[in-house]
Amino acid sequence: MDKDEFLEFLENQEESPILPKGLPISGKQKDWIGGLLSGLQIQVATMGGTSEAAGKPITIVYGTQTGNSEAMAEEAAVAAKKYGMAPKVIDMGDIELAKFAQTERILLVTSTYGEGEMPDNAQIIWEEINAKDAPKFENTFFSVLALGDTSYDQFCEAGIQWDTRLAALGATRVTERVDCDVDYEDLAMGWIEKVMPIITEKGSQETVSVEGDKGKSVKPKFDKKNPLEAELLTKRVLSGEKSSKEIVHFEFSLGDSGETYLAGDALNIIPENRPDLIQEILDLFDTNPGEEIMKRLQYELEIRTPSKELVELVGNKTEDQEMRRMVENNDKVAIEDFMWGLDSYQLIKSYGTGNITFYDFLNTCKSLSPRAYSISSSIKKHDGEVHLTIGSVRYKREDRQQNGVVSTFLADLAKVGDKVKCYFSPNKQFKIPEDGNKPIIMVGPGTGIAPFRAFLEEREADGAKGDNWLLFGDRNKEHDFIYKEEIEAMQDSGLITKLDLAFSRDQDEKIYVQDKMRENGAEMFAWLERGGYFFICGDAYRMAKDVDIALHQLIQKHGLMSEDESVSYVNKLKKEKRYVRDVY
Ligand SMILES: Cc1cc2nc3c(=O)[nH]c(=O)nc-3n(C[C@H](O)[C@H](O)[C@H](O)COP(=O)(O)OP(=O)(O)OC[C@H]3O[C@@H](n4cnc5c(N)ncnc54)[C@H](O)[C@@H]3O)c2cc1C
Ligand SMILES: Cc1cc2nc3c(=O)[nH]c(=O)nc-3n(C[C@H](O)[C@H](O)[C@H](O)COP(=O)(O)O)c2cc1C
Repeated sequence: MDKDEFLEFLENQEESPILPKGLPISGKQKDWIGGLLSGLQIQVATMGGTSEAAGKPITIVYGTQTGNSEAMAEEAAVAAKKYGMAPKVIDMGDIELAKFAQTERILLVTSTYGEGEMPDNAQIIWEEINAKDAPKFENTFFSVLALGDTSYDQFCEAGIQWDTRLAALGATRVTERVDCDVDYEDLAMGWIEKVMPIITEKGSQETVSVEGDKGKSVKPKFDKKNPLEAELLTKRVLSGEKSSKEIVHFEFSLGDSGETYLAGDALNIIPENRPDLIQEILDLFDTNPGEEIMKRLQYELEIRTPSKELVELVGNKTEDQEMRRMVENNDKVAIEDFMWGLDSYQLIKSYGTGNITFYDFLNTCKSLSPRAYSISSSIKKHDGEVHLTIGSVRYKREDRQQNGVVSTFLADLAKVGDKVKCYFSPNKQFKIPEDGNKPIIMVGPGTGIAPFRAFLEEREADGAKGDNWLLFGDRNKEHDFIYKEEIEAMQDSGLITKLDLAFSRDQDEKIYVQDKMRENGAEMFAWLERGGYFFICGDAYRMAKDVDIALHQLIQKHGLMSEDESVSYVNKLKKEKRYVRDVY
C-alpha cells in the first residue's frame, strides 16, 4: 500500500465505519444516523425527569462491567420511544428468568470480560438460562449488540453466546447480531437504527404504560469525542525509590466544567503517543511524513501494541521460520506467548523483512483507545478535583525498554499545569451501599487501592457509621506501602475499622491478600452475615480469581457449607450487589 492509497483508505474509514456483514448502512443513512445521534444526545440530556412512557413494550437488557453497555441500552431506550415503544431498561443482574422468557421484544446489549466471559452482572442469569430446565422463549423476538475488543482472542464472546442461546431456546432473531470493537458508538447506533423499525412491528401491537427510570438517561457532559480538558494539579510518586514498580498519584482540576462523579466511577484518559516512540518508528521506516499523518501517529493510531493484522502481516512475510509457522498454523497460544510484551517497532525491526512499508504498518494499526482509571478521590473531600493512582507500565523485552502509552506519558511527560483530555465513566455496579451503617470489606492490593481511598473518603464525608475493612498489599512494605500515612491516619481515627496488610516478599513464604482473608475467615464471614458488602479491585487475572476462591473457602469453613452451598451464598451476594468487582 502506498501513501495515496493509505490516505484514501483513512478517508473512507472516516466516512463510513467498517460494518459487519448484514448491516447495510452507509452514505446518506450514516449522515442520518449522525443526525439521529446528536438529536438523541440532546434528548437524552434533557430527559432527566421522564417518568412514564406509553407504547408497545420492549425490554432492553444489559450486561456490563464498566457501563458502556448500559449507556448503549439507554440510547436504545431513547430511540425506542421515538418509534412509539415503551422501553424498560434492565440490568441483567435484576432479570427474573420466568418473566424474561415471556417477554415479546428483547434487545440485549452485553460486553465480554475476563477471557471471553460474561460481565459480572450477567453471570447468574447466564447460569440460569443454561440450565436444562430453562424456559422456552417461543414468543420472543430479539437482537443482540455485543461490545468487545478485537485484541482479545474471544472477541465479543458473551454476545455470541447470548445470541446462540436465545435462538436455541426458540426466540426469533430479528436482525443479525452486531459485534463492536473499542470504537463502538457508530456501529452500535447503526444497530439501534436498524433494529427499531423491525422489532416494533413484531409481536402483539398492544400498548402499555411503563414507569421510566428517573434521571437514568442523563449522559455525562463530556465523552470521547468531546472530552474535558482537566488541568494537572499535582503528580507524586507513591512507591519508594527501591520499589520494583512505580505507582504515581495524580490530581486534576475539574475547573468550572460543572462535571462531577461518584466514588467507584472511572476516569478515561485520551491517549497521546510518546514522541520518542513516534521518532523510532519514523527512523525504522526512514520516512518523514506530512502533518496529517504525524497527527494520526500522535493522537489516533495504536502504534505501540501490535494489532492482529500486523502480526499476520509480519508472520506472512518474515524469514523467521518459527514465527511463520505460528502464524500459518494460527497457533494462538504460541503467538500469544511470543507476542507478550513485544511492541510494533520491535516486531517489525526483529522479524519484518524490509518489504513492509510504513503505510502497510499504519494500515494495520487500530485506533488509539482511551485508558480507564478507577478514581481514587471523593469529590466530597476534594472539591472540584479528581485523583488517580496509576501504575506505570515499564518493562524490558529483549533489552528494549517498553513504556505503556498513557501511564508513562502521564508519569514522564505531563507537567503540572498541562491540560489532559479525559471523560468520566459512571460505574453503577461498583458503589458503596446507600445505607452507611452496612459494613464494607475492600480487597485492593497494588493500584487496586484506588477506589477504596475514594470509598473511605466518601464514607468519612458522609459521616457513615458502618465498619470498613481494608485488605491491601504488594511486594515490600518499605517500598510499596502506598498512601501509608493516609491509611494509618484513617486507622487511627477509627475510619478504617480493620486493616490487613499482605506484603508478599517481606518473608520467605509469599503472603497475599487472599491468605489474610483465610486467616481472618471467621470474622469475614461474620461481616458478611451482618449484611456486609465485598469489593475487589485490581488484577483480574490472578488476584481476583484467588480472592474469589478464598471467599468460597472461608464461607464453606465458617458457614459450615458444602461447595455448592458456598456458590449459592456467593451468588446471593452478587444478586444483592454485595459482591462487586472493578478488575482489569
Ligand atoms: C475499569 C478499569 C479501571 C482501571 N483502573 C486502573 C487504576 O486505577 N490504576 C492503574 O494503574 N490502571 C488501571 N487500569 C488499567 C489502565 O486502564 C491501563 O490498561 C494501564 O494503565 C496500561 O495502559 P498504558 O497505556 O500505560 O499501557 P499500554 O500501552 O496499553 O500497554 C499495556 C500492555 O502492555 C503489556 N504489558 C504490561 N506489562 C507488561 C510486562 N511486565 N511484560 C510484558 N508485557 C506487559 C500488556 O500487553 C498490557 O496490556 C484500569 C483498567 C480498567 C479497564
Ligand atoms: C479485563 C478486561 C477483559 C476483557 N475481555 C474481553 C474479551 O475476552 N473479549 C472481548 O471481546 N472484549 C473484552 N474486553 C473488552 C470489553 O468488552 C469492552 O471494553 C467493552 O466495551 C466494555 O463494555 P462495558 O463497559 O459495558 O463492560 C475486556 C476488557 C477488560 C478491561
